[in-house]
Amino acid sequence: MSDGAFICSSPVRSLRGVLRVPGDKSVSHRALMLAAVARGDSEIVNFLESADCLATLRALRAMGADIRRIGEGHIIVRGGALRACAKPLDLGNSGTAMRLLAGLMAGQGVAGELTGDESLSRRPMRRIVEPLRAMGADISAAPGGTPPLSIRAAAPLRGIRHLLPVASAQVKSCLLLAALGAGGATGVAEPSPSRDHTERMLPLFNCPVSRDGGAVSVEGGAALRGARIEAPGDISSAAFFIVAASIAADADITLTGVGVNPTRTGVIEILREMGADIRVSGEHKLGGEPAADVRVRSARLRGVEVGPQWVARAIDELPVLCIAAACADGATRVRGAAELRAKESDRIDAMARGLRACGIAVETFDDGLAVQGGQLRGGEVDSCGDHRIAMAFAVAGAAAAGDVRIADCANIATSFPGFVKVAAQAGLNLGGAR
Ligand code: S3P
Repeated sequence: MSDGAFICSSPVRSLRGVLRVPGDKSVSHRALMLAAVARGDSEIVNFLESADCLATLRALRAMGADIRRIGEGHIIVRGGALRACAKPLDLGNSGTAMRLLAGLMAGQGVAGELTGDESLSRRPMRRIVEPLRAMGADISAAPGGTPPLSIRAAAPLRGIRHLLPVASAQVKSCLLLAALGAGGATGVAEPSPSRDHTERMLPLFNCPVSRDGGAVSVEGGAALRGARIEAPGDISSAAFFIVAASIAADADITLTGVGVNPTRTGVIEILREMGADIRVSGEHKLGGEPAADVRVRSARLRGVEVGPQWVARAIDELPVLCIAAACADGATRVRGAAELRAKESDRIDAMARGLRACGIAVETFDDGLAVQGGQLRGGEVDSCGDHRIAMAFAVAGAAAAGDVRIADCANIATSFPGFVKVAAQAGLNLGGAR
């Protein structure tokens, strides 16, 4: 079957196989954006052709970028100056596309309007609008601080120092991309480290980055040069199979070429704390990013405390970690994760409702949830149109006693278009219909 409007995850015992997940979403967005404004040609290999990254690609093309697809996940970009686009740029479901492009456009002095789907239209944008205005950008959001964003041409920006109240790679990267066109240095500090792909990639495009403790800064005006970027497999996509293999009665799977940037590996560390059997081997560098093979075998899991120090490094994996928690002995509590309420859906509520529908006791807090491990039963779950909620419940069949039926799954294609196929290779039993 193909990814469809609903998925039925039926019980399986055994998961086996050597799997490859598609390219990293965060790396793919950033590579396209930097390539579009760099001088000369760039080559992107293992680019993620998901709806979110394709929204970035279309927006950059609409602003004049010369982007050619020469094979699956293989992109050549001839960089140059972006120009204003009269029509609104529709970024679909992608918060990363909207926040990063807003920074890039403001820094390059390119006017435009950024819109998105219903979910993106609810997401908070003041966190980028305010610091971009402090840099001198002429940018506004709708009255509630949500999209659409309007960016008007302004005098060149000036660098600022900004302390993020909450760790966010999207906000940090927005400001670092704006900094490329600003006078002086822009420094960004955050309370705990978020993913650092932008900082790692900028030097590959000839823009030095300095790091001082937790702060990162970029000097405006660097002459970006084209680069070759190969994206590693997305650990956020691999996470669904890492959890599936951990909770299945009989599993041994290997995921090859997965990105293991330490700002993203919280999911592996939390699962190991829970008792998971995960081995990482063959570490190598792909451009500025570490990648490796990840072998996962079944294990008996126990509940753990996931405190604020873990959250930024596992932010997108917390939904599927709740599935692991549901299969563990004892309770798992996640705190300091209020950001989960501002994602593609309110992921605290979406996970709590779905788990309760499958017979698991869950308590929610403003900033997290407590999941009481037990036996997942079959049940009816609403993904709320959120790709990560859909995929989290789609792997529940690895440990559930009955069918888990998940409604509203079409958005899986925003981050992982081939999910159902890879899941079938692993031995998951997914049925459904478009
Ligand atoms: C992303 C950063 C994260 C993450 C998102 C991708 C990025 O968001 O949830 O899926 O590519 O920078 P925040 O940094 O806002 O938490």
